[in-house]
Amino acid sequence: MTDRIRDFLRVRRDLGQDEGPVMVLDLDVVRDNYTAFARALPDTRVFYAVKANPAPEVLRLLAEMGSCFDTASVAEIEMALAAGASPDRISFGNTIKKERDVVRALKLGIRLFAIDCEVEADKIARAAQAAAVETAEIQVFCRILCDGAGADWPLSRKFGCVPEMAVDVLEHAHRQGLHAYGVSFHVGSQQANTEAWDGALASASAIFQDCATRGIGLSMVNLGGGFPTKYLKAVPGVESYGDAIFRALTKHFGNRIPETIIEPGRGMVGNAGLIEAEVVLVSKKSQAEDEVRWVYLDIGKFGGLAETMDESIRYAIRTEHDADRMSPCVIAGPTCDSVDVLYEKQHYPLPVSLSIGDKVLIEGAGAYTTTYAAVAFNGFPPLRQIVI
Ligand SMILES: Cc1ncc(COP(=O)(O)O)c(C=O)c1O
Repeated sequence: MTDRIRDFLRVRRDLGQDEGPVMVLDLDVVRDNYTAFARALPDTRVFYAVKANPAPEVLRLLAEMGSCFDTASVAEIEMALAAGASPDRISFGNTIKKERDVVRALKLGIRLFAIDCEVEADKIARAAQAAAVETAEIQVFCRILCDGAGADWPLSRKFGCVPEMAVDVLEHAHRQGLHAYGVSFHVGSQQANTEAWDGALASASAIFQDCATRGIGLSMVNLGGGFPTKYLKAVPGVESYGDAIFRALTKHFGNRIPETIIEPGRGMVGNAGLIEAEVVLVSKKSQAEDEVRWVYLDIGKFGGLAETMDESIRYAIRTEHDADRMSPCVIAGPTCDSVDVLYEKQHYPLPVSLSIGDKVLIEGAGAYTTTYAAVAFNGFPPLRQIVI
């Protein structure tokens, strides 16, 4: 927790305004993270993944610092534009787009799009006609599959195609008159292995070569996100990722290193945010001596902690009693839905003196929380965010 967040929470409590769970986000941390990315990968353009946290203050800060933006929808494109980013600094990075949204994006000036199949390229070519935009002005990159090994939040097989197919997809896009620009991949979110980019870069290099033999000169590799934030376990620093990526680029592209892009989300905002929540109930399911306690918080899976699904993301939870003896607990959210349990398979140690009304601090909560909160499930309002 930063001093600024600590002071902010203290004042809020003194004023008696500490009702409900809240996420407090410190912009100074985002500023430091952007600077660290820019230093660790100096020849790479940063496209912040807006989905991680689209708070206008975050987008404005990053736009001022020179960041570009990876967006998943027209709404996110509009947020990035409103924050001051020009259209040439925005990509439409979702491989699954409605054709009318591609038309809207083109009319807003967006010219950089992700695809992972031929029909998505066809959509973009048709949308270009509808929006009266020259196809040659539109850059497309093809996303390839990654197995996500080493990531706590792998992105599965939903996005991307096998590398061999990417060559055909890019050739097809080229034939439609689009600018076949490059290749993208995502090594899985919260990726602890700094070497995870190596295999995907080997595939990207092979795609570049195969496209070249078909007369198509690719020039860009989008290295995606995956840069971790610190939860309970320590993670390597961003400079280690920069070094490993540069080594892999040199290994696979020699002295013809392409233009590169990164799309950090979690690594940009995760450690900037902290959730203050409250203990609603502490109880047991039987009177047996060894029965674990159930600790129910006023925040759960539907209140913003969706990434505890399958207990994938294990947040650091601090309390004012952490100097006391700890014992294992099940932690659950407040709703009447039985899946609203955060940690049960692997019990979570909490102080024995923790009781109803105590505050808990959930660290590393700046990414993928506020926008995952349900609007009014069980009548609970979505997680509030305060940016300081
Ligand atoms: C296309 C794309 N880029 C970037 C990101 C951000 O990833 P991360 O938060 O792991 O940095 C995501 C996350 O889902 C994504 O889908």
